[in-house]
Amino acid sequence: MLRRLHAIQPDTFAFTPANLAWAKGQISKYPAGRQASAIIPLLWRAQEQEGWLSRPAIEYVAGMLDLAYMRALEVATFYFMFQLQPVGSVAHIQVCGTTSCMICGAEDLIAVCKDKIARQPHTLSADGKFSWEEVECLGACANAPMAQIGKDYYEDLTPEKLTDLIARFGKGEVPVPGPQNGRYAAEPASGLTSLKEFESGRRQYNASAQAAVELSDTVKRIDGTEVVLTTPWLGKTAKTKSAAPVTPAKGIPKEPKPGAGRVADASGVTVQEAPARSKGKPVAQGNESVATPPATPDAKAPAAVAKVQPKALQAARGGKPDDLKVILGIGPKLEILCHRLGFFHFDQIAAWTDAEIAWVDDNLEGFKGRVTRDKWVEQAKVLAKGGAGP
Ligand code: FES
Repeated sequence: MLRRLHAIQPDTFAFTPANLAWAKGQISKYPAGRQASAIIPLLWRAQEQEGWLSRPAIEYVAGMLDLAYMRALEVATFYFMFQLQPVGSVAHIQVCGTTSCMICGAEDLIAVCKDKIARQPHTLSADGKFSWEEVECLGACANAPMAQIGKDYYEDLTPEKLTDLIARFGKGEVPVPGPQNGRYAAEPASGLTSLKEFESGRRQYNASAQAAVELSDTVKRIDGTEVVLTTPWLGKTAKTKSAAPVTPAKGIPKEPKPGAGRVADASGVTVQEAPARSKGKPVAQGNESVATPPATPDAKAPAAVAKVQPKALQAARGGKPDDLKVILGIGPKLEILCHRLGFFHFDQIAAWTDAEIAWVDDNLEGFKGRVTRDKWVEQAKVLAKGGAGP
């Protein structure tokens, strides 16, 4: 499997103060000269902060550990726990496609992902909520076929059950992970035939599903229209307003205990919000600046706006795209991103409605909110009529 850095990268990365303190704590666990051993937790935390692992993040972590960039890059590109491109804002679904799962129906699960999310792996769904990929054996072969969604395993899947899970995640629910066919763990489907004494004293779910319910750290959660990453290790226990409990699938009757709902990030930092809360100065490159202004903790969330994907073109008309870089705020990276989304001409941008602006703003990975912030549509209207750029 080719694992390469994403073509479009932010210019900078920096841990939030809370994550920086945590990272330094991790490094201090190792004896002098062995700090490089902290690379995996630090890369993981960088991914938690940004939602995916960018080149600046990898270099930043390498710098913290006094490692050659190549050493950190080797780790980041080796493990598929590290996402090297933007992933769905709610969940990235990793379908196991290895022998047991393949025999038991993984290909049908992949067909569901292609149908419900995107034809190609590592591609965001139209609403930006989901992405998917096929991965190698995840070590849950007795519960094949299975998929890792967020940080947890959803096992004993069928196409219908995976379809239902995606729908429930999309609505903001967090289905209980573990076997989805009523099995407790990996026992025979007809029940235990030995070691039956272990049936007494069982908790509601098997150990990993129970931990998922109690930690409530399965996927990024939806709070209204916001995506909230729960980070219980930071010690905050405030619940989000619309804290959806982890809910069992049909056929698994019990609700989790009250209080086992999700908790919010100590700093209130969300995966998507994290860059915006960086204290770093905007770094200008060409016509673009990457870091967005820091949000104040008490800033009111903007009212939710319906998002509609604008009509896209397969290619520029006549093979001649307009020079979108004339629009103030669009540089070479954003122009490439616009082309990938099917926008090549001023008149396309000039015609965007509020709902379409909201969609594009939400799908400019690494540059979210730029259409509104830099008033692309107003500029494009002038340019489409042959006026001069700003
Ligand atoms: S083959 Fe799928 S988990 Fe092992």
